[in-house]
Amino acid sequence: MKIILASDHGGTNLRKEIASLLDELEIQYEDIGCDCAGSVDYPDYGIPAAERVANGEFDKGILICGTGIGMSISANKVKGIRAALVHDLFSAKATREHNDSNVLCMGERVIGPGLAIEIVRTWVSTEYEGGRHANRVGKIAEYENK
Ligand code: RB5
Repeated sequence: MKIILASDHGGTNLRKEIASLLDELEIQYEDIGCDCAGSVDYPDYGIPAAERVANGEFDKGILICGTGIGMSISANKVKGIRAALVHDLFSAKATREHNDSNVLCMGERVIGPGLAIEIVRTWVSTEYEGGRHANRVGKIAEYENK
């Protein structure tokens, strides 16, 4: 599995913690920043990262900003992206099983690093169930391809 990791200034600390976790899990990833002292605009990081998932260069993306909301809105504008804003373990598991989410968004200002790390562990290790969910996910793709 190859993951692309990005954040704005509001998510830099958590992004670095997640990078350490991916190292520990021996999951291949590319961290595209930001390497910022000042503030940056989340779409400048979220959209390029999402595009690189959509074009198949990466299997999944993890995007962090202050709330996770800006990153999730941005990523979901990219065709083929199913970005999930997740701040609890139930949703981390369910969004992989049911939505086949390919981008995980979290807010560094919303949750602590301990929970965020457990969310990433759950999200990367949970498989999509397909079955009855495939029809629903398929309808999203159908709409995108209209
Ligand atoms: C930046 O201040 C903040 O707006 C951003 O990190 C994010 O929370 C946006 O949704």
